[in-house]
Amino acid sequence: MKKVVLGVTGGIAAYKAAELARLFVRSGAGVHVVMTPAATEFIAPLTFQTLTGNPVYINMYAHRREEKIQHIDLLKDTDVVVIAPASANTIAKMAQGLADNLLTTLYLAACCPVVVVPSMNVDMYKHRAVQDNLQKLSEHGCQVMDPEAGELACGVYGRGRMPEPADIFAFISEALRPKDFTGLKTLVSAGPTREPLDPVRFLSNPSTGLMGYALARALKERGAEVVLISGRTHLQAPSGIKKIDVTTTEEMFDAVMDYSRDCRLIIKAAAVSDYRPLNVSEHKIKKNSAMATIELVKNRDILFELGKNKGDRILVGFAAETEDVYDNAQQKLTRKNLDLIIVNNLKEPGAGFAVPTNRVSLIDRSGEVEDLPLMEKAELAHHILDRITRML
Ligand code: CTP
Repeated sequence: MKKVVLGVTGGIAAYKAAELARLFVRSGAGVHVVMTPAATEFIAPLTFQTLTGNPVYINMYAHRREEKIQHIDLLKDTDVVVIAPASANTIAKMAQGLADNLLTTLYLAACCPVVVVPSMNVDMYKHRAVQDNLQKLSEHGCQVMDPEAGELACGVYGRGRMPEPADIFAFISEALRPKDFTGLKTLVSAGPTREPLDPVRFLSNPSTGLMGYALARALKERGAEVVLISGRTHLQAPSGIKKIDVTTTEEMFDAVMDYSRDCRLIIKAAAVSDYRPLNVSEHKIKKNSAMATIELVKNRDILFELGKNKGDRILVGFAAETEDVYDNAQQKLTRKNLDLIIVNNLKEPGAGFAVPTNRVSLIDRSGEVEDLPLMEKAELAHHILDRITRML
């Protein structure tokens, strides 16, 4: 988002719009706030002016310069118009196409996505008139974000409360994503596998599943059907995703083979144990001797097996390396018959396991290397998908 028009209407939740404006500014967007006259009763325009560094627009004619038509000029190059909080009154006017103030006039001229965040008393929100108007706004193409249930400013409990600014920000980011994976069947594996030694011990690695879950979420946001095969993690699966829980590499192998059959895209972000103990003790192993040896057998390589019968599927793997990073990754890509490999150097700060960021390079079959800067895994997931869209 480069330019956001934030419409603020008259409701107690207007104070939360200040935090929302700040989130947009922090994300790098230019924010232009348009307030209805009623909104100025709840929060001072100066608050928004200070947070955004831009003048605040209220009156149709106040900022009018000879050569500009204000509501049209404000919309130029705007990525999204967000109306938060949207009062019952403004919603009604928008639904009817009334243009009696700057915000409602601007809405009629908006060709970009419009997100409406209603906020009001529970009985007002439930009223047939409001529900009909919101339905109309959806039919106009607006994205309406449901209010939350909770204690309302009027003291009653119910649905009507404006969601937290961070949630609104996430909703808008999702609403603006291109739906370029719509209908595509995809599978993502994530997290560590565990290989038991006895009932209380296992071999594993420090993967938390963050990268795989971020990819699953990003695919879902962009319209894909997603199956997430997950090792043990503490993460919540994004809604709308089919999640299959596994523990060992063999379980992951079976689940991936089962669910990948009709998938067009398979991303293996899981950190898979290459070996498992030859014998798993039925009882807890006792420390009877000074030394102990564990005999290990090799697990099957899931990606390698998928690569053998690749067909027209797109196979994407990960490689976490500590030396000869590009060479090792390139060899894995060739050996496993992959289309893309995402490699990170575990020795770099902020890259790899159990951190919210990663610094990776993408290498494709032609050997083209794309070095990406350090970034949040959620953002990286979208970069990876951008790259994959070029292969689809
Ligand atoms: N992988 C897999 N099945 C395995 C081992 C790895 O599907 N048994 C996948 C991982 O999910 C990852 C890619 O292969 O996408 C590379 O994993 P990595 O552990 O880096 O590579 P290995 O092939 O195991 O090679 P090594 O451990 O020797 O570096």
